Amino acid sequence: MSSSRMLKFWVLIACLIVEASAGNFYNDVETNFGNGRAKIDPRGQLLTLSLDNISGSGFQSKNEYMFGRFDMQLKLVPGNSAGTVTTFYLSSQGDRHDEIDFEFLGNASGQPYTIHTNVYAQGKGDREQQFHPWFDPTAAFHTYSIVWNPDRIIFLVDNSPIRVFNNNEGIGIPFPNKQPMRVYCSLWDADDWATEGGQIKTDWKLAPFFASYRNFNVDACVWTSSAGSSCASKSPDSINTQAWRTQGLDAKERNRMRWLQSKFMIYDYCKDFKRFPQAIPAECKRSRHL
Ligand SMILES: *[C@@H]1O[C@H](CO)[C@@H](O)[C@H](O)[C@H]1NC(C)=O
Ligand SMILES: *[C@@H]1O[C@H](CO)[C@@H](O)[C@H](O)[C@H]1NC(C)=O
Repeated sequence: MSSSRMLKFWVLIACLIVEASAGNFYNDVETNFGNGRAKIDPRGQLLTLSLDNISGSGFQSKNEYMFGRFDMQLKLVPGNSAGTVTTFYLSSQGDRHDEIDFEFLGNASGQPYTIHTNVYAQGKGDREQQFHPWFDPTAAFHTYSIVWNPDRIIFLVDNSPIRVFNNNEGIGIPFPNKQPMRVYCSLWDADDWATEGGQIKTDWKLAPFFASYRNFNVDACVWTSSAGSSCASKSPDSINTQAWRTQGLDAKERNRMRWLQSKFMIYDYCKDFKRFPQAIPAECKRSRHL
């Protein structure tokens, strides 16, 4: 093959791979609030949420899942985003629900966003860890991932782990492993608490606010009542490596996570002695949360 034909060949192959691994929002999700404020482009590749003084907007996955890896690329509200909250999370239904959260708390222009993470098991949360991003999350898309397997939950940003929540059922800490969850994303107003504890309000003169989502990849067990916990099928268009089933952190990833935490973590419930004056939660012991 001539070199130009060779190049065309590789470009074709590369495109096929991208097509095969990028989800289509029309297949994978449905909007769940906002009355037309959530918009999917005609090719199903880009989903835009908007927020104005009447309503925010959101969407949810059509499927429920029981363990998996969930990747989403987000570009957050630019400029003065104070009071706004953009989310990407997993949640089950009903009371005593399970939930695994990424929430992005807006800020005044030039001030950093807060990446807020939390884990709820059987209705109990109170396990917040927060970070400032080490990049401008409004200038370009960045990838946020949740790995959820029977042993642990890993939060990743651009494929770097920032947090691990291990299964510590052995010492009586509930872990989300009995209820299937859906993926939810939303953009809403929370100016009573989001920015500097609610002191900076949403500037409605700047509305509508927009956040964009793309490349939703699910490599997970789709929950169907008949499949039960055997759960072998997958979403339409999704990659299905199943690598998440045993995913943990190797030494390099552990070091990377420790470094990111030391530089960019701004809140850790495990170090909040005021909030837990009796005793810090048992899962916080160093050997249990790394
Ligand atoms: C919402 O914003 C619109 C457009 O700026 C404005 O005309 C309207 O009065 C606002 N409504 C409320 C309830 O603040
Ligand atoms: C907003 O900016 C302030 C000042 O830099 C910072 O302390 C805070 O963590 C930022 N985020 C939020 C959500 O308030």
